[in-house]
Amino acid sequence: MTLPFDGAISRYYQTGAPEEIRKAIQTADKDEIITPSYPHRERMARKTYETELEALQIELVKLQAWVKASGARIAIVLEGRDAAGKGGTIKRFRENLNPRGARVVALSKPSEEEQSQWYFQRYIQHLPSGGEIVFFDRSWYNRGVVEKVFGFCTDDQRERFFHQVKGFEQALVEDGVKLFKFWLNVGRAEQLRRFLKRESDPLKQWKLSPIDVKGLEKWDAYTDAISETLARSHCPEAPWTIVRSDGKRRARLAAIRAVLSGIDYDNKDAKAIGALDTEICGGPDIWD
Ligand code: ADP
Ligand code: AMP
Ligand code: MLT
Repeated sequence: MTLPFDGAISRYYQTGAPEEIRKAIQTADKDEIITPSYPHRERMARKTYETELEALQIELVKLQAWVKASGARIAIVLEGRDAAGKGGTIKRFRENLNPRGARVVALSKPSEEEQSQWYFQRYIQHLPSGGEIVFFDRSWYNRGVVEKVFGFCTDDQRERFFHQVKGFEQALVEDGVKLFKFWLNVGRAEQLRRFLKRESDPLKQWKLSPIDVKGLEKWDAYTDAISETLARSHCPEAPWTIVRSDGKRRARLAAIRAVLSGIDYDNKDAKAIGALDTEICGGPDIWD
């Protein structure tokens, strides 16, 4: 079987990656979390994870029943670097939900026609109708980050985006849409470790793209673009929730908890939801 991109990730790991990143991956144990600033050294035990996830998924089922009955609209934006865990998190949210009322929106790059439209236009048609929960796997925030890093938009277009984004989101929230914005934060060595795993796993190779390969050299450009984006789009009506995602399990639990805690649905069991882990999940101040 031929590897996509000709083993470019392994090559980068062997010859291009900063020495400390390569060392961190080489010496890490399989269960060890390698991001120095992460608050735990080991990933969460499977049993604990499964028990907590099940309790939360039961609450998600109740949430969806309430959404359908009340006609509420929920939009959940998942952002983060490549391999931050967006797709895996959405998968756990939706595992036991009726897929009809819990859609995923993962748009590909804009077509020529879409490029001629108002930037937000192609996203608007995917916003939730009454009774729906919609997950955005990437979103309009492409203009803040990936489009900046790869030069897919002009500086003027990006400035206009920042000028409009708060008003756009405030209009949604004012109209009654419950909007959640998650930024999944993954460290550099952990990201590369996940890319290596994807490259060698036939079931995960589809997750790799040319952008990921080219992005390897652009860590710092991403860092600048993300930091600016968070600073310019965090507002009281539509705040960012940062989730440290070096440990996938804690990250998934934290994101689900944050949504459940933020909505007053029928038969809510606050004890089953439990407390938010403020070391894993918080405002833009915990992003690094
Ligand atoms: P993903 O990580 O979502 O599987 P990629 O890493 O390939 O996909 O791309 C990241 C994002 O950049 C996607 O949302 C994609 O649509 C966007 N993108 C890729 N090429 C372009 C382009 N030429 N113009 C604008 N956006 C683009
Ligand atoms: P996924 O492929 O997204 O379902 O990820 C689940 C698997 O990822 C786990 O069973 C682990 O083997 C692996 N994994 C690798 N790194 C981590 C980490 N830091 N935290 C949790 N799981 C991890
Ligand atoms: C994921 O891990 O699911 C990602 O964040 C998706 C991606 O690699 O773009």
